[in-house]
Amino acid sequence: MTEKELCRKAVDMLDMAYIPYSHFPVGAALECSDGTVYTGCNIENAAYGATMCAERTAIFKAVSEGHRDFVRIVIAGRSEDYCVPCGTCRQVMMEFAPELEVICLNRAGKAKKFTLRELLPYGFDQSWL
Ligand code: THU
Repeated sequence: MTEKELCRKAVDMLDMAYIPYSHFPVGAALECSDGTVYTGCNIENAAYGATMCAERTAIFKAVSEGHRDFVRIVIAGRSEDYCVPCGTCRQVMMEFAPELEVICLNRAGKAKKFTLRELLPYGFDQSWL
C-alpha cells in the first residue's frame, strides 16, 4: 500500500472515533510487514481511564489476529499541530516494533515523520528482563 493510501485509511477512521468527552478524534492505520493493514480509532469511556487510544486499538486488533511484525503507523488528528502518540502508545509500539516508522498527520493532512526511537529514546523493552 502506498503511503498516501495508508494516510487515507487513518483519516477515514476519524469518523469512527467515539469521543463524547474530549471531542478529539484520532485515527490510526498500522501496516504489517506482510502488507496487512489494521485500523483503529480512540474509544472513550465515562470512566476516563478506561479510554483506549487509536494507535493501541489498531495494534491490539493486529496482535489479536496473529500479527506482531509492524513497519509503519499513520496517526491522524484534526488538530492544527501533528497528532503525536501518547507515552503509553509509544511504549506499546516499542514492545512489538522498535524500528517502527511513525507518520503523524495534522488536520490539513500534512505529514511529519518520526522513528519510534526518536519518540521514545532509551525505551524499556525485553532486553532488560
Ligand atoms: N488519544 C489517542 O487516541 N491517541 C494518542 O496517542 C493521544 C490521545 C485520544 C485519547 C482521548 O480519547 C483523546 O485523544 C484526548 O486525549
